Amino acid sequence: MSDPTISVQSLCKKFVTGDTEVEVLRDISTDIESGHFVCVLGASGAGKTTLLHILGTLLRPTSGKIFYNGRDVFKSSERELIGLRNRLIGFVFQFHHLLPEFSAQENVAMPLLIRRTAPDEALRKADSLLERVGLGHRLRHRPCELSFGEQQRVAVARALVGDPDVILADEPTGNLDQETGRQIFSLLTEMTVSRGKVLVVVTHNLELASSADQVLKIGTERHVSAQP
Ligand SMILES: Nc1ncnc2c1ncn2[C@@H]1O[C@H](COP(=O)(O)OP(=O)(O)OP(=O)(O)O)[C@@H](O)[C@H]1O
Ligand SMILES: [Mg+2]
Repeated sequence: MSDPTISVQSLCKKFVTGDTEVEVLRDISTDIESGHFVCVLGASGAGKTTLLHILGTLLRPTSGKIFYNGRDVFKSSERELIGLRNRLIGFVFQFHHLLPEFSAQENVAMPLLIRRTAPDEALRKADSLLERVGLGHRLRHRPCELSFGEQQRVAVARALVGDPDVILADEPTGNLDQETGRQIFSLLTEMTVSRGKVLVVVTHNLELASSADQVLKIGTERHVSAQP
C-alpha cells in the first residue's frame, strides 16, 4: 500500500501566554488520501486555523508529527519547509493576507514569480484564474480597492495558480453569497479533488461538510493551566 498523502499523528498544540498555558489541539490523528476532500469543523476558537497552519507547516506542533508522502516534515530545516510550501501547498488564509501594494493580478502571479516562472506566463495564468473566480474586470485593483469577498476570491486564485498537491482553505466561501460561494467551491474541487489532489476546507457550512470524504471535528474542551 502506498503512503497516504498526509498523515497526522498524535498532534498537540499548546500556546503559552504569560503564566497561562492553553491546550488548543489535543491528540489529533488522521490520514488524508490523495483526491480527498476534508472538512474541518468546530466552534470559533476551537483551533481550526491553528490546525491548518500546522498542516501547512507554518506553525510547529508542541508534539506529534505530520508526514507528507511519508516524509516527516518537521524534521526539515526552515529552508526546506519554504521549498515544500511553495511546491506542494496552496493556502487560502482566513484573512486573505494579500500584499497591499500589489494588484490582484500581481498577487495571484506571485507564487509563480517566486518560482521564477517567466513574468508573461505568470501574469497570463493569473489573469485566467481571476477570470475563473469572476474577477476578470478587477485585474489592476489593489486589495484595498476590492470588497472583502472579492479579496477572498483573489486569495483562492492565488492558492490555485501554482497547481499545488494540497490546498488548505480557511473559510474560503465565508464572505460570499450562496451562488458565488458554490461557484468558488466547485472551482476549488475541480482543480484539486477531481485531479487527485487534496482539499482541506475549514467551514461552518454543514451542507458542504456532508459532501466531504472526511470530517475532522475540533473540540472546544480546553485544558487551561497556570504554569508552576
Ligand atoms: N499565537 C497564539 N498565542 C496564543 N494563543 C493563541 C495563538 N493563536 C491562537 N491562539 C488561541 O488558540 C485558540 C484557537 O485559535 P484558532 O484561531 O485556531 O481558532 P479557530 O477555530 O480558527 O476560530 P475561528 O472560527 O474564530 O476562526 C484560541 O482560543 C486562541 O486564543
Ligand atoms: Mg479561524
